[in-house]
Amino acid sequence: MSIVGISGSLSSPSRTTALVELIVGRTAVTGAFAKKEIINVGDIAPSLGLALNPKQLPAEINSAYEKLSSADLVVIGTPVYKGSYTGLLKHFLDLLDPKVLNGKVAILAATGGSDHHSLVLEHQLRPLLSFFGVYTVPTSVYVKDSDFVKDELGIGYRLDNNEVSKRIDTIVEQALWLTSRNALQAIAA
Ligand SMILES: Cc1cc2nc3c(=O)[nH]c(=O)nc-3n(C[C@H](O)[C@H](O)[C@H](O)COP(=O)(O)O)c2cc1C
Repeated sequence: MSIVGISGSLSSPSRTTALVELIVGRTAVTGAFAKKEIINVGDIAPSLGLALNPKQLPAEINSAYEKLSSADLVVIGTPVYKGSYTGLLKHFLDLLDPKVLNGKVAILAATGGSDHHSLVLEHQLRPLLSFFGVYTVPTSVYVKDSDFVKDELGIGYRLDNNEVSKRIDTIVEQALWLTSRNALQAIAA
């Protein structure tokens, strides 16, 4: 099985990307996923911002959609911008054929400056993925900026909160349960 992380951040380095990579890594070490990939919408921002027609997309966007298409589990993370997910993440999903995500399992994650907008996961990101027919993992994770520290190289970020770390373990367990059920159903069908 394969796992794909999407970071909706425009920043580099990015707390959101660090969080998505952490969740993807924790899930992959369970041994259930032979392949893991990360899509950073910030990396494809110039071509994504100019793309308007879903039938005429630049190669790098089509390549990101192909990765998503082959995923059994998706980890989708966004920084909170003005009380919501980022506009670029929404544009990335607006151009995506809705059938691509249908029936997949997704873990939801977000970062923000404070706790005030933590429910963005439940009120905005979860309903957005419901539109696509995604089975979202029941527990989601929101991490505020003060729960990150600089990584060992002093360049990127790493999570520095044990409670959040334990929550990620719970999320990974739930995601494995849902993806294994999904895989069994696909075999039975
Ligand atoms: C344009 C912009 C808008 C933001 N709006 C909010 C907000 O409404 N609520 C909040 O908690 N944090 C807000 N933030 C803070 C970011 O969500 C937070 O710093 C996040 O961890 C950044 O993630 P990143 O390191 O991946 O860029 C905003 C930041 C930016 C740049």
